[in-house]
Amino acid sequence: MRIGVLTGGGDCPGLNAVIRAVVRKGVGVYGHEFVGFRDGWRGPLEGDTMPLEVSTVRGILPRGGTILGSSRTNPMKIEGGVDRIKKNLAEGGVDALIAIGGEDTLGVAKQLSELDVKVVGVPKTIDNDLNATDYTFGFDTAVNIATEAIDRLHTTAESHHRALICEVMGRHAGWIALHAGMAGGANVILIPEKPFDIDRVCEYVESRFKIRYSPIIVVAEGAHPIEGQMALQAGELDAFGHVRLGGIGEHLAHEIEKRTGKEARTTVLGHIQRGGTPSAFDRVLATRFGLQAIDAVHDGDFGKMVALRGTDIVRVGLDAATSELKTVPESRYKESEVFFG
Ligand code: F6P
Repeated sequence: MRIGVLTGGGDCPGLNAVIRAVVRKGVGVYGHEFVGFRDGWRGPLEGDTMPLEVSTVRGILPRGGTILGSSRTNPMKIEGGVDRIKKNLAEGGVDALIAIGGEDTLGVAKQLSELDVKVVGVPKTIDNDLNATDYTFGFDTAVNIATEAIDRLHTTAESHHRALICEVMGRHAGWIALHAGMAGGANVILIPEKPFDIDRVCEYVESRFKIRYSPIIVVAEGAHPIEGQMALQAGELDAFGHVRLGGIGEHLAHEIEKRTGKEARTTVLGHIQRGGTPSAFDRVLATRFGLQAIDAVHDGDFGKMVALRGTDIVRVGLDAATSELKTVPESRYKESEVFFG
């Protein structure tokens, strides 16, 4: 078989580990051939390919990013997009695709699979918000990066008697904020699932200063105050209709300074959370996903994605990737609240 591989959406540490595992097992065990499609769905849409052989994947296991490149191109929004993909696959002799991506990329994979394109999906997102899988690779790395940043913020905050706000990624789900905030001993964690009360946040800040500690506030980029408390600006939309976020940390610093009279500064971790080498956990998870994905293709089990359930890798329908977002449950947030203030 000749199999195309693509990576779509925001990049994520561990993508290269998946590609390597797919190719190593696909060639070494099954004798398949591979072709890389560049920049997510743009590759098959425009017929933009690159060679993908065992030699291409040598040494990429610890490398962040993706050797295939990524984009947020949505072929479903492009006139004749599906036909162009089908034509390019047929002309390139590509029998099946492995699509590595999050909700959006796998949503396209699902629609194409319903239109007779042979696809297997691999879930990825640093946000860990896909309900079909217990964990996505990239999340552990992002949490480690954010935790290290929080550890560093603690010491400089203490020296200057400031409140420091650490803004982390997490559009709809606060998993990174929750885990990094807990691991880093944050004094308040604010997540999209739970609109925050700015008066309460300021009380936590003040109670910290009273005991001569400097507060660290961890905020997910998608967190927002209860209605009417603070005016926030709306951002631009991408091809999948998502608002470009960022800015809640700055708003918080401004409000905290205004309300408490204490100096407050913000650090936005942004894409640092997505770059660089994956953690050992993510390398292993990504590798196991890749091995299972090529098994699924070899078995002709299309329209599926691989997922982690407990410690097992299983196959579920591609629709599971998009059916429900995994958000932070109230009970998990409550655990973290014990340490607030
Ligand atoms: O979906 C993953 C994610 O990391 C989100 O947390 C974040 O909002 C988004 O990607 C930002 O991605 P980009 O800057 O690449 O559009």
